[in-house]
Amino acid sequence: MTAAAAGGAIRLPRDLPERGREFTRRLRAWYRVHARDLPWRRTRDPWAVLVSELMLQQTQVSRVLLKYDEFLGRYPTLESVARSSSRRVQEAWSGLGYYARARNLHRLARTVVGGGGALPDEPEALRRLPGVGRYTAGAVASFAYGRRAALVDTNVARVLRRVFTRRTDPRTARGRARLWAIAERILPRSGAAVWSHNQALMELGALVCTARVRRCTICPVAAACDTRRADLARTTGGR
Ligand code: ADE
Repeated sequence: MTAAAAGGAIRLPRDLPERGREFTRRLRAWYRVHARDLPWRRTRDPWAVLVSELMLQQTQVSRVLLKYDEFLGRYPTLESVARSSSRRVQEAWSGLGYYARARNLHRLARTVVGGGGALPDEPEALRRLPGVGRYTAGAVASFAYGRRAALVDTNVARVLRRVFTRRTDPRTARGRARLWAIAERILPRSGAAVWSHNQALMELGALVCTARVRRCTICPVAAACDTRRADLARTTGGR
């Protein structure tokens, strides 16, 4: 949905460019030290990145880790999936659940192979493929191709809302449009920086700024966070 369709232009905090720069600088410095070593972070192969992002959409990292290498061992390329049957791809997906993802992966592979062979690098083109939404398109474009593409999943939405726009409701179309606009506005310029910025946003949401608990005392961006500031103002009586 466009900003207009969501009910008029999206207004962003005026200091967002400066705060965004400070935020991403601190976030990426933290990521360099604290990031988990995950197999999909060691590859820039678009197929391997796509498979990881589809698996991670509805399945926990610990369960994806049990399956990721095995699946890629069986289906190392898009062509190998296109040559296989939907049933076999779903069998290889077993243990991950939500089998629509495996069916879509098979359809996607046949669509791409039928249309020339390579996964596109533009988010808009990626989104036209079966099972690829705005989040997955941004993830593949930035993680595999180093494109300057934003991504917002549930974890990232929570981090951005708490830091920059704590009164935004992510359940509304307008709230989501606002969070996407913020994610786009704070992207660093270079592809390498975008890669670590996007990974770091997700890592912060998974390890520090979680749905269950806000670990503000160890958070690298606490000094730039609206929610932290509001919490502190409350506990010190506004002093
Ligand atoms: N969830 C979705 N994408 C992820 C990634 N690249 N790393 C960790 N968790 C994720």
